[in-house]
Formats: sequence, structure tokens, C-alpha cells
Amino acid sequence: MASPRVRPGDSTRRAATLADVAEPGGSGPIGPYPPGADSDEQRADYDKLRRRVLWRMPSGLYVLGSRGTEAASRNLMTLNWATQLSFDPKLVGVSVERAAYTHELVEQGGCFALSLVDREDRAIVRKFTKPVEVDVDAQTLNGFPYVERVTGAPILAQAAAFVDCKVQERLETGDHTFFIGEVVDSGFLRDEDAPILRMEDTRMNYGG
Ligand SMILES: Cc1cc2nc3c(=O)[nH]c(=O)nc-3n(C[C@H](O)[C@H](O)[C@H](O)COP(=O)(O)O)c2cc1C
Repeated sequence: MASPRVRPGDSTRRAATLADVAEPGGSGPIGPYPPGADSDEQRADYDKLRRRVLWRMPSGLYVLGSRGTEAASRNLMTLNWATQLSFDPKLVGVSVERAAYTHELVEQGGCFALSLVDREDRAIVRKFTKPVEVDVDAQTLNGFPYVERVTGAPILAQAAAFVDCKVQERLETGDHTFFIGEVVDSGFLRDEDAPILRMEDTRMNYGG
């Protein structure tokens, strides 16, 4: 059974067949459980309820750019687990699943770039849920032009804004790694007032 992490209708490796409401994952309910969740049924119910609560945590929805050591190793990935972490220095963290190709590239390249997407371009996040086709000569990923700034991690040319980060620290956080990067470059590629895409602008979920 596919993992329930993404819904609905996404073409990710794990979630291609998920319907509107995600089902419990293949690994079954995950503890710990609060008092009163004693039977298998109560635990399964609690597992689903906790997922719905976690899904309600507001978040942005970004495209994360990474690059490895080879010329053609570039990737863009849809990601919503991102946050600023410090005023001084300017630190931003992203949580990347260990099995993702992006994870390998961030480890190799020691950098990442977050593209903030214009709300009008919401359909674009569906294009980056599996490793992309790279055309270094044309400077496109899955046919979408990208630009590079200080670190060389790809940034969607049509992004509303970007933060380009050099990895300073990594934390193993369960099945993900939390990469903490210092912002070494940032800017707007569109009008500064362009509305930025958030998870709630889509029917997608991740996590839970
Ligand atoms: C709406 C949405 C949000 C996502 N957020 C994250 C995230 O925060 N971290 C993560 O590791 N994967 C996230 N993913 C999953 C990755 O986009 C997906 O696993 C992708 O296949 C990994 O890409 P890669 O193997 O090309 O690096 C999200 C997917 C969707 C559809």
C-alpha cells in the first residue's frame, strides 16, 4: 500500500493511486498514543485524527533546487517543510526525505535554493514530485528554465522570489534530514507584491 503522505492525485512514486482522503500508511498506525487509545481500532482512529491535525498546520509550498558535483546533477523538488530559523545569521531550514534524490544532491553540493512560487503558478508544483529531466545546455529542468546564483543550486526562472542557501548544519529528524542553510543570496524575480503560493491554495497535503 502506498504511503499516505501526499494527496490527492499527485503522481509521486508513492502516492499515484491515493484518493482524496489519505488512508493509513503501509507501516500501520504510528505511536505514541494518548490515554484511552488502547484497542487497535482506537489507535487507528487516533492515527488518522493526528494526521488531519498535522495537515492543518499552515505552511508555504516551494520548489527546492539542489545540485551535486556532476554537471548534470541538478534537481527541483516540491517541498513545504521550510522555515526561517534565525535573525543573525540568516538561517533557513528545509526537511528532506532521506530517500529523495534531492537529499543526495544537497549532501553532495552543500547548498539548496528555495523558489517561492507565484500563486498563479500553483500547477507547477505537480511537475516536481519526482526526479526531473535535466538539460544543462538549454538550462531547463523538466522543460522549465532555471537560473543559478551564488551557490549554483537551480532556481525556477519564473519564481516570484528565491533564497539561495549554503548548508551550515544537518540534523537527522526521523525519516527526513533537516538541512540548515545560511542565506547567501536572495531576491525577487517578479513584482514584489506577487502573492506567494501556500499549501492552502492547493488540494495537496504532505506529512500528517
Ligand atoms: C505538496 C507536497 C509537499 C511536499 N513536501 C515535501 C517536503 O517538505 N519534504 C520532502 O522531503 N518531500 C516533500 N514532498 C515530496 C517530494 O516532492 C517527492 O518525494 C519527490 O519525489 C522527491 O523528489 P526527488 O526524489 O526528485 O528529490 C512533497 C510533495 C508534495 C506533493
